[in-house]
Amino acid sequence: MASVKRLLLAFAVTSGFLAPPALSSAADTLSTQRQQELKYMVQQDCGSCHGMTLKGGLGPSLLPERIAVLPEQYLIEAVTHGRPGTPMPPWAPILTTAEIRWIVEQLKSDQLAQTRAD
Ligand code: HEC
Repeated sequence: MASVKRLLLAFAVTSGFLAPPALSSAADTLSTQRQQELKYMVQQDCGSCHGMTLKGGLGPSLLPERIAVLPEQYLIEAVTHGRPGTPMPPWAPILTTAEIRWIVEQLKSDQLAQTRAD
């Protein structure tokens, strides 16, 4: 486990994830186009397990009424590392820390609700 942590840390450092000031919103660092792509990904990929409307399926509901009370860092870690021993995969190989933070912020504040209705 320690080696995985070290790897992830090395990854974070070399990719410059630790460089942006911690207080800036994740949205500041992502292009509008990338945000659209991530929205689509949440619906399609996350939705395949968490339900197309994110109400829950194989994985639990990701709607704000359920996750608003959960710490942001806890959710970010679940998405980054996945949950070993469950179907929840780690997204660190695919998404940057800023992107994962953005997704969690959107989920918590229900910013994906509008596209859910499309
Ligand atoms: C292959 C199925 C699958 C996919 C794809 C998937 N998840 Fe999950 N996810 C799960 C399962 C199952 C759990 C519950 C794991 C457990 O029992 O701890 C989970 C747990 C979570 C949790 C923790 C919730 C909590 O209350 O502890 C978050 C947050 C989460 N997923 C977000 C996402 C996001 C965001 C995506 C897309 C980037 C995604 N998941 C894609 C299956 C999936």
